[in-house]
Amino acid sequence: QEELHKPLLELMEKAGRFYEQMLRSHEQRGKAVDYLKGRGLSGKAAKFFGIGFAPPGWDNLQSFLAANGDKNTIKQLISCGMLIEKEDGRTYDRFRDRIMFPIRDARGRYIGFGGRVLTDEKPKYLNSPETPLFHKGKELYGLYEARKIRQKLTRFVIVEGYMDVVALAEYGIHYAVATLGTATSEHHLRRLFKIVPEVIFCFDGDNAGRTAAARAMETVLPVLEDGLQARFLFLPDGEDPDSLVRKEGKPAFEQRLNNAVHLPEFLFSFVKEQVDFDTLDGKARFDQLAAPLINRLPKGMLRNLMRKQLGDELGTDSVALEKLENAPETAPPTIP
Ligand code: UTP
Ligand code: MN
Ligand code: MN
Ligand code: MN
Ligand code: MN
Repeated sequence: QEELHKPLLELMEKAGRFYEQMLRSHEQRGKAVDYLKGRGLSGKAAKFFGIGFAPPGWDNLQSFLAANGDKNTIKQLISCGMLIEKEDGRTYDRFRDRIMFPIRDARGRYIGFGGRVLTDEKPKYLNSPETPLFHKGKELYGLYEARKIRQKLTRFVIVEGYMDVVALAEYGIHYAVATLGTATSEHHLRRLFKIVPEVIFCFDGDNAGRTAAARAMETVLPVLEDGLQARFLFLPDGEDPDSLVRKEGKPAFEQRLNNAVHLPEFLFSFVKEQVDFDTLDGKARFDQLAAPLINRLPKGMLRNLMRKQLGDELGTDSVALEKLENAPETAPPTIP
């Protein structure tokens, strides 16, 4: 497996270096540099993340990496998603006229790319397809870079986008990672919790972001062994971490992170929003919705405490309830 991947990994790294070089020397690099500057990106951050430029044109990468039309190289470039093969067998570069974000695995090996248009064309981001090297549901953008900065990691922030990771790092918040256009998976979370005891979800301040937070809450529950903490930071409407940290700066943004809502609080308030808590049937529904979520937690103190809290919220004493539930359906005659 490793041996099979080796030539592909080498090609991917060469592609990454090529895009970086194009950002420095291509005749049309001006618009890419202007775009990045316009977004407030420093040359230092661009270099640290290996950001590059795929020039316009159908065969820049192909001509560079398979100059002599070498069949084997072309086959490999198709297999790692960098070239697309048409029905007539001809091939062209997947990424054209885009800002390129290399996706590196935890060991720093180039496994995929995300490419952003310089305008508001669609799709805004084009990502590498699933390849032998690149498995979207498993990788986290920024994880390699976060670990490369030697500072000790105590927590991760999970954000939505490439630019969020890069902007936060630029402002000295170097512990952000992004899922790659997919939902946060249990696999992602187990991986992060092997490194740190705390993960903060910080999605965009829009409906999609709020929905993603609710889904992340469900996904993280089975992973939350005692001692681990998941928290949620909700951003003002219309903001994402990139836009907000540029507006507010590091101290204010970190203040928000420090105040992020803890999972138990989010869970109860999220469910409460969905019921009419002032009525008894609304409370019963609250119990119906909250209990299965709480039961997703692994056995332990957090689960015990949340069950107790659920009882407290409902004003029920669970021991008394159990006695009632075990009572015979028909009452014994009370009149002798
Ligand atoms: P957003 O639309 O929030 O992008 O999508 P963004 O990162 O804020 O983009 P900018 O600031 O306009 O550059 C969040 C993430 O979802 C994925 C990308 O990973 C993106 O960073 N995405 C988004 C795609 O894969 N394809 C798309 O067309 C859009
Ligand atoms: Mn593989
Ligand atoms: Mn969004
Ligand atoms: Mn953005
Ligand atoms: Mn965004």
